[in-house]
Amino acid sequence: MNIVDLIIKKRNGHELTRDEINFFIEGVTNKTLPDYQISAMLMAIYFRSLTARETSDLTMAMVNSGKSLDLSKIEGIKVDKHSTGGVADTTTLILAPLVASLGLKVIKMSGRGLGHSGGTLDKLESIPGMNTELSIDRAINQVNEIGIAIIGQTAELTPADKSLYALRDVTGTVDSIPLIASSIMSKKLAAGSDSIVLDVKVGNGAFMQDIEHARELARSMVNIGDRLGRRTCAVISAMDRPLGNNIGNSLEVAEAIHILKGETEGRLKDVVIELGAYMLILGSITDDIEVAKSLLERNIKNGKGLDKFKEFIKAQGGDSRVCDDISLLPVAPVSYTLRAEKTGIITSMETAKIGMASIALGAGRTYKDEVIDLSAGIIMHCTLGDRVKEGDIIAELYANDIHKCHAGADILTDAIEISENESQPLPTILEVIK
Ligand code: URA
Repeated sequence: MNIVDLIIKKRNGHELTRDEINFFIEGVTNKTLPDYQISAMLMAIYFRSLTARETSDLTMAMVNSGKSLDLSKIEGIKVDKHSTGGVADTTTLILAPLVASLGLKVIKMSGRGLGHSGGTLDKLESIPGMNTELSIDRAINQVNEIGIAIIGQTAELTPADKSLYALRDVTGTVDSIPLIASSIMSKKLAAGSDSIVLDVKVGNGAFMQDIEHARELARSMVNIGDRLGRRTCAVISAMDRPLGNNIGNSLEVAEAIHILKGETEGRLKDVVIELGAYMLILGSITDDIEVAKSLLERNIKNGKGLDKFKEFIKAQGGDSRVCDDISLLPVAPVSYTLRAEKTGIITSMETAKIGMASIALGAGRTYKDEVIDLSAGIIMHCTLGDRVKEGDIIAELYANDIHKCHAGADILTDAIEISENESQPLPTILEVIK
């Protein structure tokens, strides 16, 4: 087989066979293909796309490029969840202990912040003592004991995806639906759970900016799951503004604790309940969506979700007293209050830019391996569609020096439009693809 023939075949819009896809991915994994030929193939896929069959073959080839977790030592149905990423999206920290408190087994591999999106590992590490670098065996034992473990991704899983993603990032081929779908699903499949609930974000803080593309991505991933024998469903939810009120690592942990205590309602909790209900259904706890939602609400009210979160923090070496006293979380030394410059309606929020404002405060990375400030971030006091008066508080910004607060405030001001126009916020949950 010759890679040039395969690039030309895809460039001309023809379907690649499974063997041809395996040949391409083996060349990526063994590093026998040069970056320019891999990049040419990625660009051909970007323009010509892949059929559903090609996309699932590509996914499986990437799974086979590395190890897969064997979760057979965990009894019960293992359910995973994945969000395509956004701003103030703290769902995992609330959802994972909540569904574990209802008997599901959750072993989740999470990532660090990427671009304007936050990452679950960074958030967890803002809890003093918390260790996310557990071995797989220890994580499996922990799930058998308490039902939940959240750990970092191991380099041994899907190495082909790692190489392809690095090239996509620098060749303008990230936002291709079959490439995103196969990248996400290969990692989820290699992570070994029986069922997967996907949270596909849509809006100006997400990869997919409109519902048609979000639907296409969601369908593509559900299709891969079905073809490869995992029960999968996708919830399409809005990212046309930050999901929660808090942006930044320890601030998001604090918001998660408030929600688990039943002290905060709102869109973040709504998404948690929707995703959690589908996790309970795929995990065969119930087949009735309303029953599933009421079970989740019940375990917020009776404190069992919060107790499970404490148990999980303790098991991974963290200080679970943060759940009773959030002042034990890192607190930024400097704060700045941003006020509305005029009266009107918040008619648009550039969500990705709001994520960049939190990076300017120190909450995210501008280069790989940068040490971040776990206490930095933003507490939003208003959202899309709210009416504000001149001088009302828009947000509170936290950092370790006032210059960073000013830089963050400038970006945030630029990201929020106040006018007399009508705003058209997206509904929090747009669709569910089963
Ligand atoms: N997240 C991934 O893991 N892969 C993509 O291609 C895009 C988002």
